[in-house]
Amino acid sequence: MKILANDGISASGVEKLQANGFEVITQKIEQDDLEKEINAQGIAGLLVRSATTVRKDLIDACPGLKFIGRGGVGMDNIDVSYARDIGRSVNNTPAASSQSVAELVMGHMFSMARHLHDSNRQMPGHGASEFKALKKKYAKGIELRGKTLGIIGFGRIGQALAKYALGAGMHVIANDGYNDVQTVELEISGVDSPVTVNIKRLSIDELLKTSDFVSLHVPKQADGSAVIGASEFDMMKDGAFLVNAARGGVVDENALIAALDSSKLAYAALDVFDNEPTPRHDLMVHERIALTPHIGAATVEAQDRIGTELADKIIEYFK
Ligand code: 3PG
Repeated sequence: MKILANDGISASGVEKLQANGFEVITQKIEQDDLEKEINAQGIAGLLVRSATTVRKDLIDACPGLKFIGRGGVGMDNIDVSYARDIGRSVNNTPAASSQSVAELVMGHMFSMARHLHDSNRQMPGHGASEFKALKKKYAKGIELRGKTLGIIGFGRIGQALAKYALGAGMHVIANDGYNDVQTVELEISGVDSPVTVNIKRLSIDELLKTSDFVSLHVPKQADGSAVIGASEFDMMKDGAFLVNAARGGVVDENALIAALDSSKLAYAALDVFDNEPTPRHDLMVHERIALTPHIGAATVEAQDRIGTELADKIIEYFK
């Protein structure tokens, strides 16, 4: 039985599938050729990340495709309900990458707090000739300790982020329209039992008004609307910091640039964009935006967990 991992899969996932008699194809097939190749090669399972889309027309055109796997969390690139309604198995790995995304957000917050991303851009060209000027430019860093982090979307990733932020001495507040999680359990190396920490839950408006840093961990909204737009930026503290490692479109990119240019926001860090994989140029070159190319889940550990979890689900489904 053939499984196409069109956006890649960890070696551990491949090994597990092969050990259970599956043939795993990892050679990327272009979106427009998928229908033809899936049918021609008799592929029964298609694994994707966010790069490949699996829409209704592809699902309809490939009756032999029984299993669709999303190696990761967000399934906005798959017509999930439709596929399930017509009897296809659609699976994701919602828990596997929480730590990795949370660590990337911490990295972005530490980076913004000390201008690291901009310093890294400037030092190669100007470090030797303008050292003192750059030292002055980056002189007003801040500490994360004691600052308030507002987490919008308090699911697995939001909770994982809360633990890291608490560890760094931040105050953490949260908003979530779907769950009522009020505590997180901090596991500290060398301490026998986890420490339970209460997390204050607030409305989005209250959270925005009180936070020094805001990080988003919500899915793309069904109607495509932004969670943070011009009126939300207005509510934020002057000089606040924003991180979006959730989905492009969750933050209105025009409003974001306006908020940065008016110095309402000190910095923003973006891992996700409208129009991936061709994000707009003015975001890429903005001095006060820290950038990564959608790498929240791109760690060896997360991809390893994702690969083996998907393999387990395929083995279970086809057995
Ligand atoms: C997710 O939804 O799991 C993340 O956005 C990761 O996406 P990726 O697998 O394309 O890196």
